[in-house]
Amino acid sequence: AEDHRRTLHLAADDAALAQAALLLRAGQQVAVPTETVYGLAADATCDDAVAGIYAAKGRPSFNPLIVHVADIADVAAFAALSGESLALAQAFWPGPLTLVLPLRADAPISKLVTAGLETVAVRLPAHPVARALIKAAGVPLAMPSANPSGRISPTAAQHVLDGLAGRIAAVVDGGPSGVGVESTIVVAGRGDAIVLRAGGVTPDEIAAVLGYAPLRPDLSDEARPNAPGQLLSHYAPKGHVRLNATTAAAGEVMLGFGDVVGDLTLSARGDLREAAANLFACFHRLDAMGAMAIAVAPIPDTGLGLAINDRLRRAAAPR
Ligand code: TXA
Ligand code: MG
Repeated sequence: AEDHRRTLHLAADDAALAQAALLLRAGQQVAVPTETVYGLAADATCDDAVAGIYAAKGRPSFNPLIVHVADIADVAAFAALSGESLALAQAFWPGPLTLVLPLRADAPISKLVTAGLETVAVRLPAHPVARALIKAAGVPLAMPSANPSGRISPTAAQHVLDGLAGRIAAVVDGGPSGVGVESTIVVAGRGDAIVLRAGGVTPDEIAAVLGYAPLRPDLSDEARPNAPGQLLSHYAPKGHVRLNATTAAAGEVMLGFGDVVGDLTLSARGDLREAAANLFACFHRLDAMGAMAIAVAPIPDTGLGLAINDRLRRAAAPR
């Protein structure tokens, strides 16, 4: 059935934030700017509100959501934050890091958020609008990226409207997301740390805090947690993607980086921060151009390049 709800496009001023907080408290779904990508927020303590996220995105219910807090002290109400996880939180929050933590048995968090797991993913975002909204809502907010499931994550309010207009109550416009790739997901404890998703915080930065390098997940070990969402083919523009290309073949649109000049470029000066911030906007633009075949320049596999190459490999994966 068609949904004729109008999606409000709100400015990030005080009046709009108060209105967005009211919508969230009423169990509605509101898209919110964060420094990584736009999130689709709802009250994490309310089953109906969280169910509305899955419905709006068409997201499979076995893929759990990240709970977002405005203050590190707010975590204790629903999860255990200690040891290596606490050290990482103190080093990188607010910021693009998500920690997978033991869920408290009495946590007032909807079971739909954790998809029945005994752990919960938690993040304290750095974006001032996101933090102000979480504070104003007065509850932790569940927030996946604000895109239809399987589509490119949004780094601007217009991307959110392109994918979800009519399916959510509002989008708060905080301008383009500065980091541009999703948060790094880490599960730490027992003397090691595992990066479940490469993201805005690099393995080197994590190693500098812990004194040892984080590990990649061992997907064959079913006893250790992994990020269920990472198993899905994801992040793909509509066209076929070919990686590590230095020139475009006939019919291909070239996505450049550094010396490799393209029709579009991730960063003409070869800067990985700029490339991460531009990545999803370039994917959205390639879709808008109707690009059916896309050649992508090589990206160095260091620092933020690890997260960029993770997303590019998913974009190029068979679907
Ligand atoms: O940067 C971000 O993290 C953005 C912004 C909005 O905060 N959010 C985001 O959410 O990327 P989403 O839903 O697109 O990705 C969340 C990922 C999924 O891969 C999911 O499987 C994983 O987090 N996840 C959630 N809870 C988990 C848990 N308890 N254990 C392991 N992975 C979990
Ligand atoms: Mg997502």
